[in-house]
Amino acid sequence: MEYPTFPKECNSLLAKYLTKELFEILKTRTTPNGFTLEKAIRSGVENPDSSIGVYAGDKESYTTFAELFDPIIEEYHSFSKESQYQSSFDGLESVELDPKGEYILSTRIRVGRNLEGFPLGAIISKEQRNEVESLVVNALSRLEGDLAGVYYPLYDMSQEVQEQLIEDHFLFKEGDRFLESAGLNRDWAEGRGIFHNHNKTFLVWLNEEDQLRIISMQKGGNISEVFERLVSAIKALEETLNFAYSEHLGYISSCPTNLGTAMRASVHIKLPKLSKDMERLKSITDKYHLQIRGVDGEHSESRGAIFDISNRRRLGISEVEAVRDLVEGVKVLIEVEEKS
Ligand code: ADP
Ligand code: ARG
Repeated sequence: MEYPTFPKECNSLLAKYLTKELFEILKTRTTPNGFTLEKAIRSGVENPDSSIGVYAGDKESYTTFAELFDPIIEEYHSFSKESQYQSSFDGLESVELDPKGEYILSTRIRVGRNLEGFPLGAIISKEQRNEVESLVVNALSRLEGDLAGVYYPLYDMSQEVQEQLIEDHFLFKEGDRFLESAGLNRDWAEGRGIFHNHNKTFLVWLNEEDQLRIISMQKGGNISEVFERLVSAIKALEETLNFAYSEHLGYISSCPTNLGTAMRASVHIKLPKLSKDMERLKSITDKYHLQIRGVDGEHSESRGAIFDISNRRRLGISEVEAVRDLVEGVKVLIEVEEKS
């Protein structure tokens, strides 16, 4: 493979950190599972509008290609390579983000997880992916009470049900071009699916970008309730499943942005006044380490002045701190919106 050329307007962290010299050093390295630099960067090369541009194929990718992954991780999470993964699921105070019920439509927190001993989605084989599915479905079938639910494999789902689940923000979309280039959509829809409890407040996605996305969500702004449900689900699943983890990077994910706590806590929030002053909105979200997404998730647009606002950092801060990033920022957003 030749050193890729990135167009001038390309702002990805891949283009920023993969110099020709580094490319020459890394291009012959391979992880024990056969993951190469070419595979790691394919998504960012084929999609020059990527913001990051790299994916890991296994846990070892993060050490084998550390000279490329480290600066990307450092910049995205404001995490230095001398730091350690921090974790704490305890001590989140009871928080209602929107006591008047005027701004927040819904609150969601998810974590990504992958199983120890398997390659990540970019190079997992069909058989291994199916094995992951059966191990996870077995673990999910043991959940009790509010967490108990049913697993719906994607290949067995009607187009109508699938579209409705996506529209209602419960299910992942199909055909993401970034994942496609990274090899993460291979053998679609085999091994993919969604588990959820009766009222869809607890959900697990299987074999999308990560092998598991564990999700807690509900209407309104009671984020401590959403957090508690998520924590109890993670703990229950850990009794049966062994998640890929490293002392330094925390939970291992396909994309370096999801390492560490692998947690994205978000609200769907309606900000009619601030939506007319995007510069101001952006300055507040930047100050509080928050990210703005559209109503249909990543790479989508905002509609009706509704934004998906979430914590940006996931590594080097604990789970409780990741939620607090959102809590602090959202408080300010609501104050500013009220005074505008
Ligand atoms: P992820 O959160 O897993 O990184 P996305 O950004 O694509 O991935 O979001 C996945 C889905 O979750 C999308 O349909 C998105 O609209 C929905 N979603 C995210 N946050 C919320 C929220 N606070 N309330 C309702 N739906 C949400
Ligand atoms: N690879 C895509 C990009 O670089 C997504 C990066 C972050 N999002 C994610 N879902 N991992 O723009």
